[in-house]
Amino acid sequence: MKISIIGSGYVGLVTGACLAELGNQVICMDKNITKISQLANGEIPFYEPQLQDLVKNNIASKNLHFTNQFKDACKNRVIFVCVDTPDNEGKPDLKNFNSCIRSILKYGKTNTLIVTKSTIPLGTNSKVETKLARHNLKHKANFKLASNPEFLKEGSAVQDFFKPDRIIIGTNDNSSENILRKIYAPLSRNKNKIIKMSLSSAELTKYAANAFLATKISFINEISQLSEKTNSNIHDIRKGIGSDPRIGSNFIYAGIGFGGSCFPKDLKALKYSKQKFNLQEGIIEKTISNNEIQLNKFYKKIINSDVTSAKNHRIAIWGLTFKPETDDLRESVSLKLINKLASKVHSLHLYDPMADYKEVANLLKASKNIFYYDDKYKAAKACHSIVLATEWKEFWELNASLIKGMTIFDGRNIYDHSYYMKYKINVVGIGL
Ligand code: UGA
Repeated sequence: MKISIIGSGYVGLVTGACLAELGNQVICMDKNITKISQLANGEIPFYEPQLQDLVKNNIASKNLHFTNQFKDACKNRVIFVCVDTPDNEGKPDLKNFNSCIRSILKYGKTNTLIVTKSTIPLGTNSKVETKLARHNLKHKANFKLASNPEFLKEGSAVQDFFKPDRIIIGTNDNSSENILRKIYAPLSRNKNKIIKMSLSSAELTKYAANAFLATKISFINEISQLSEKTNSNIHDIRKGIGSDPRIGSNFIYAGIGFGGSCFPKDLKALKYSKQKFNLQEGIIEKTISNNEIQLNKFYKKIINSDVTSAKNHRIAIWGLTFKPETDDLRESVSLKLINKLASKVHSLHLYDPMADYKEVANLLKASKNIFYYDDKYKAAKACHSIVLATEWKEFWELNASLIKGMTIFDGRNIYDHSYYMKYKINVVGIGL
């Protein structure tokens, strides 16, 4: 099938490259000319495992093309809208999304199926549907709309695309449903992954999924606070509750909280929608505030400890991205912690295996006592203690002799305290 993707960021590019790999003829569009020329040369402007090879191979097989022109992207009869909808003071900014819909109506063929993949506030698809109906009547056209929300995780997006848990098709129209069923048939062959629902249900399913996952994290973080007060062990509690299939063992790892471009933004968007519908505050709002409380508790644990209260205390920070296997710094809890700590200690010594230090320095420019390293032990050598903020694989197994006598504040609970105690390394975790 001939498919267009508008918006070539994390979601758009992964979707486009994977659909091309399935044999479709895909054209990815982005208004950013630099990005498009990089992509056309097979260079990916961000880090996502497996994506580089996928893009290169599909450019070579001529299944994947790039453009910065709406006109080119609007030649195909199926267009996935994957533009960003960034948070703007608590509500998603629809500037890019709306301008994309306007351009499709201007340049698109009159019988185009528009598929929304961007995460858009509740009620947006219904507004677009009304707009299309008006346009169709006026111009004797037949533009159609479907919602196909995204559930990919950064760091495993390609794998998630080819092995989805579910594929949501939100539409009120049979022919649109059939087109999407055809596109996704190769991913739904062994087991039916497709769940068909209305446009509005698809829209809310996306938000509800992210809000539920974030709630699980905030919940276990709250339990970790009780676990500390009662001398319990959060690992045991996690295993104890996670073994119940009704609870499940994923997303109940206590830590310094969730970040990224999705959970914080989507929770705020749901909060905003609830306010619009005059609904009372509840779990959504508490999930947001619990995430801040959790980070603050860890920050206090660091600055109130005997080690850090010493004069001229230097701390190494391991991990800057919002999670491992990505270079994404958006809403990174590590950066939030650094901002809090910077004025309280002598200096901070940062290391991350993938983050772009220029971008980090730009985000942290208010603090002058921050230094960057190309190796975790070099960063630690200059310091008295270490904060593990993002659990990249290379942090899991340490050469204890190189950090002997230090304290590790383990924000992701990955270290075995008794093992490191043998090397006089004191580990301070969460809920332990
Ligand atoms: C999230 C969802 O998991 C995807 O399904 C969804 O498609 C995506 O948002 C989106 O809306 O586009 P992502 O933001 O890539 O994916 O990251 P996650 O793997 O969900 O992690 C989010 C945060 O939760 C990270 O900061 C992570 O460290 C934290 N986390 C995760 C915990 O603190 N504890 C856990 O047990 C799991």
